Amino acid sequence: MKERRILVTSALPYANGPIHIGHLVEYIQTDIWVRFQKLRGHRCIFLCADDTHGTAIMISAQKHGVTEEAWITRINEEHQRDFAGFDVAFDNYGSTHSDENRQLCAAFWKAIRAAGLVVEKDVTQLYDPVKGVFLADRFVKGKCPVCGKPDQYGDSCENGHTYTAAELVEPVSTLSGAAPEIRSAPHLFIQIEKLHDFLESWTQSGDHLQPEVANYLKGHFLHEPLRDWDISRPAPYWGFEIPDFPGNYWFVWFDAPIGYMASTWQWCKQHGEDFDAWWRNPDTEIHHFIGKDITYFHTLFWPAMLKAAGFNLPTKIHIHGFLTVDGRKMSKRDGTFIKAATYLNHLDPSFLRYFYASKLGPGIDDIDMNLQEFVNKVNSDLVGKVVNLASRTARFVQETGLSATYPEDGGLFQQGAAAEEDIAAAYETGDYNRAMRLVMELADRANAYVESTAPWALRKDSSKAHQLQDVCTVALNLFRQIVVYLAPVLPRLATQTGQLFNCPIQSWSDAQTPLVGVAVSPFQHMLQRADMKEVHAMIEETKADAAGGEPVRFDDSDEFLKAEPIAPQCTIDDFIKVDLRVARVIAAEEVPDARKLLKLTLSLGGAERRTVFAGIKAAYEPKQLVGSLVVVVANLAPRQMKFGLSEGMVVASGPGGEDVFLLRPDKGAQPGQRVH
Ligand code: 2FM
Repeated sequence: MKERRILVTSALPYANGPIHIGHLVEYIQTDIWVRFQKLRGHRCIFLCADDTHGTAIMISAQKHGVTEEAWITRINEEHQRDFAGFDVAFDNYGSTHSDENRQLCAAFWKAIRAAGLVVEKDVTQLYDPVKGVFLADRFVKGKCPVCGKPDQYGDSCENGHTYTAAELVEPVSTLSGAAPEIRSAPHLFIQIEKLHDFLESWTQSGDHLQPEVANYLKGHFLHEPLRDWDISRPAPYWGFEIPDFPGNYWFVWFDAPIGYMASTWQWCKQHGEDFDAWWRNPDTEIHHFIGKDITYFHTLFWPAMLKAAGFNLPTKIHIHGFLTVDGRKMSKRDGTFIKAATYLNHLDPSFLRYFYASKLGPGIDDIDMNLQEFVNKVNSDLVGKVVNLASRTARFVQETGLSATYPEDGGLFQQGAAAEEDIAAAYETGDYNRAMRLVMELADRANAYVESTAPWALRKDSSKAHQLQDVCTVALNLFRQIVVYLAPVLPRLATQTGQLFNCPIQSWSDAQTPLVGVAVSPFQHMLQRADMKEVHAMIEETKADAAGGEPVRFDDSDEFLKAEPIAPQCTIDDFIKVDLRVARVIAAEEVPDARKLLKLTLSLGGAERRTVFAGIKAAYEPKQLVGSLVVVVANLAPRQMKFGLSEGMVVASGPGGEDVFLLRPDKGAQPGQRVH
């Protein structure tokens, strides 16, 4: 296999808060890919940095009474600590506030100016007279100028209307509460429309983007002229001052992606490497891993900047979806906005690495972390299927070591060796879910072997000592082969396995040859079972943390009771007229043209079905509902709606929009059961 030269990045996290489990979807995903490439023997480096500039970070530093430098230094340390806790192993972790980045920004700027892509235009923006800063859209709130909805941000409202911040009715600065003034200032823009043809061909050809991303760009942006990109901000702004436009700074999104290169440069300096060999070399592959929310910046602005400045274009941009927990957006109130550090107080990082790997596919769909599924999967796959292979056999060969020649195993090791190509292809394309399934199939076969050969029974008969050694030699080699394939996901397990056989796992090809005649170290515990109690404790800690570090107190507000007082008394006879049943969602789909509705098909058991149109679209992803239990008003008179007949109602609380909370029966409830 020809050695590839691969440069990999994850998006640079903002230096504005802690790393949480949503971020980790990306960093773990990238780390797995990098470890896979390294294990395959390729030259691969993994670079990242903190994204340190912009108004939000300036405000955070002010709020904490420290300089911006002090603030970003502290956050950088915390981020690096959290990533290390999850075995995310960068080759260099830098900061966009570095000399390397300043110099590279200047070089890009010179090239972009020389290409005639920069124009100056006046921009009218809201200005906070108390804080003395121009206000980005997310720092202004007011009434939507279209529908009047109060408390909306400066670019769009929750009802989907878009507008400029200056159009908001009764705007207030979220920084000071002051009414903003309208001020005009000159800004510099990059005319990326001048690179339209290049961007059209780069995004629509080759394998740089997932097909759905290429289509999205074509349908949403490239079908019309690209808008000029406003890349300067007047002082005060926390960033790099533009050399030929004093008093103005590059907008954070200009210097952020250049941070990928600055981090490479730092790594090159530490290792005596040539920077141009990585960024101006057609033999180097460049892979960016990012979330779908920053697609535009990475697929249009960034290639345009690289093109104008004469650097390598990305080989591939790997885009992933968001994380939901138990089918809902991560939320502080639900205790699911879980910080990396909080997770590590309760659970093994390998659990999350494996769980994410088992969920991630090559597409951009969101992934759901159902907490019960998380515990079940880790226990059944990692503990039950993988580690058990070693824990049930290693101690039987501790004195003898492995057999001197590899015993007859009915072709099991060979089958495992032959699976390498399929598993490798799945890793390569980001289809980790498939890779994990293929590996678990091998684990199932290995476990069937152990069950049928029953080493614990052979152990009792001293005349079968050789047979016992052979059976354990097979089981442990199948175990090790599986661990080689899992090594990109579970580096700790790979290290422990290396120690067990006094032979570190160093290469993907270690899965091709069985170990024979080696000593086996005393078996050390490899992985605890995941415990739902710890998951609950983690959620409680997250809630307490959101409540300001205080222990959780049950002092719920009475705002909902005030808004809707309790209805007049009813009798039990009144109540039983309403037939509430447990139902299973067997299909869920969006309703074209209906902004709020999902169409649910519910099973009440047997052939009893209900079609229900529920106003829960903003709060739930259809596919995450499928399979879950809900409560339905089963005897509600059907109602003809524009979109079809609704034959019931699912029971939920909350004011609406994203704040809708389905009532979910507890574990063990069955469809058709009446709710009393
Ligand atoms: O969206 C974000 O979190 C940005 N900080 C990502 C920047 S990625 C790159 F361009 F620097």
